[in-house]
Amino acid sequence: SQPTSVARAVSAALAKEPASAPRLSVVYGSQTGNAKRLAEQLAKNAESAGLQVRLLRADAYPTRELKSERLLIVVISTQGDGDPPDDARGFVDFLLGKRAPELAELKFGVLGLGDSSYPLFCEIGKRLDARLAELGATRLLDRADADIDVERVAKPWAEKALQGVREQLKSHAPLATVTPLRPSAAPAWSREKPFSAEIIANQRITARGSDKDIRHIELSLEGSGFAYEPGDALGLWPRNPPALVDAVLEVLKLDGNTPVSLDDSTQPLRLLLSEQRELTRLSRPLVAQHAALAGSAELNRLLSPDHAAQLARLLSEYQVIDLLRAYPAAWSAEELVAALRPLTPRLYSIASSQKAVGEEAHLTVAHVSYDAFGTAHWGAASHYLASREEAARAPVFIEHNERFHLPRDAARDVIMIGPGTGVAPFRGFVQERAAVGASGRNWLLFGNPHFRSDFLYQVEWQQALKKGSLHRLDLAFSRDQADKVYVQHRIREHGAELYRWLDGGAHLYVCGDATRMAKDVHEALIEVAVSHGGKSREDAQAYVNQLQQQGRYARDVY
Ligand code: 2AM
Repeated sequence: SQPTSVARAVSAALAKEPASAPRLSVVYGSQTGNAKRLAEQLAKNAESAGLQVRLLRADAYPTRELKSERLLIVVISTQGDGDPPDDARGFVDFLLGKRAPELAELKFGVLGLGDSSYPLFCEIGKRLDARLAELGATRLLDRADADIDVERVAKPWAEKALQGVREQLKSHAPLATVTPLRPSAAPAWSREKPFSAEIIANQRITARGSDKDIRHIELSLEGSGFAYEPGDALGLWPRNPPALVDAVLEVLKLDGNTPVSLDDSTQPLRLLLSEQRELTRLSRPLVAQHAALAGSAELNRLLSPDHAAQLARLLSEYQVIDLLRAYPAAWSAEELVAALRPLTPRLYSIASSQKAVGEEAHLTVAHVSYDAFGTAHWGAASHYLASREEAARAPVFIEHNERFHLPRDAARDVIMIGPGTGVAPFRGFVQERAAVGASGRNWLLFGNPHFRSDFLYQVEWQQALKKGSLHRLDLAFSRDQADKVYVQHRIREHGAELYRWLDGGAHLYVCGDATRMAKDVHEALIEVAVSHGGKSREDAQAYVNQLQQQGRYARDVY
C-alpha cells in the first residue's frame, strides 16, 4: 500500500534533519579488569568532553549493529597463550570469522593489553586491529600494545584516541551540550590509593611433607569501607624481597643510596627497586636493552625471530637477577630504573564471604619460593605476604569481578571446579550460600597432589557437608596412586550427574591454572555433553559456548 501523505511529510522532514553526530562505542574484553578499567576511564572522559558514548563489555555487544557503527574503540587483553579473555570470545570469533560485514564507514582504534613475558604479546589486539582494517575500516590512530604496566602506554593512547574521535565529530552537528558530571561519591581507597590492611592471620595450611607452602591469610578491612562479593579479588601492592634487592645492587656494584629521579621526584635506588620496579618478572624489552649493554652475541641471537621458543623459555625461567648474573653488563642506577617495568599489583581471589567474616578478607596464597641457578628465588607478592608477621600491614584494594559472581537466583545449583589454590573463591561461595540460606545445591570438585598434606580446608568442607551447605564433594589427589587423577577425570566419571545438574540450570565455575587445567576441564565438559547429552561434538561445543555466553560457565584462571 502507498504511504499516507502524513507519513510522506514526516519522512521528508526527518530526511532534512541535520545529521546528528555519530555515537562512540567503547568495547572492552577483560580478564583481570585492566581493560575494563581503561575502557571506563576512556568512556567517562569522552562523555565529559560532550560526546555521546556507549560502553559495552564485548559479550554484550550486539554484533549485528557492527555494520552501522561509525566510531569504535576496542580495549582488549590477551591471555598468556594468545587467547581472548572469556568475556570477548564471541566478539572476537565473530569479527575474525566469515560472517563479519564490510566496514567501510567505520573509524576505529584498538588498544591491546598483554604481558610481554609471553611470546604472543597482545596477540588478540593485533589480530582485531588487522582484521578491522581488512574489513575496510579506517584507523583513527595506530594500535598500541600495553604491557603489564598498562598506564604508561594506555594513558597517552587514550588521550590521542579521544582527540581523534573529536576531530571526526567536528564535521558533524555541534557537540551535545556538556553535562557536568555529578560529583560521584568516590570510594576512599582504590588501586592508586590502597588501604593499609592489617594481617591478622598467616598460617601454612599444607602439612609437613607437602611440596607446596600454601598460606591462609586473613586481612582486616576495618575502617576501609570495602565491600566485596565472593568471586571478587583483592589487589595487593607487593614489595620485592630485601635479599633480592641487595643481590641486584651487589651484582651491578651499585650503591642503594644513589639518588635517582623518577616521575618528578628523587628517591634512593634501593627504595625504587624495592617498591616501584619489577624484579621477579623479566620482559623482552629489558632483555633487549641488556643484550645491547652486555654486547652479548648469544642474547642477541635469542632475540631474533627464529629463536622465539628459546626466548620464551628464558623469559619464563629467568628473573632479572639471573640475567644480570649470567651476562655481565654495566648499568647505571638511572638506566636501570628506566629500563625495569613499574611494579604492578597482584590480584588474589578472595576466599571468604563478608556475610560470614564481616570486615575481613581471606586469601589462599601459594608461596612461590624455590632454588634456581644456585640461589633462592621468590614470587614478589606471595613472598611478601608469607613473610609478613601478624599485625604487619599491606597495601590493598578491591577488584570487582562481576563475571565470577554467584547466580542471583539462590535456587540455582552451583558446580565449583577449583584444584589447588583455585579453591579459594569457592570457600567464599559456600560461606555465602550458607549465610543467605540458598536453596540450590553446591558441588565442589577439588584436586591437589596428596590427601594427607594438601587437602586445603579439609575440616571446613567436612563440616559444610555435615551442615548441608555443601552437597557434593569430589576429590582428585593426583599423586596418591600410580596414575595421575585430576578433576577432569572426576568430571568424566560423574558426567551423567553433572550433565543433569547443568540441564537443570546449574551454574558452573572454574578457578585455577589456565594453561593446562582449564583447557582440560573445558574439553571434559564438551565430552560430557557428547556422552550424556547425546550431542554431536559440534553441538556439544556450541552447548558449552552457550553456557559461557549465558554466564552459566565462568572462569577465573591465571
Ligand atoms: P600434579 O602436580 O600431581 O600433576 C593442583 O596443582 C593440582 O592440579 C595438582 O594435583 C596437580 O597435579 C593438578 N594438575 C596438574 N596438571 C593438571 C591438569 N592438566 N588438569 C588438572 N589438574 C592438573
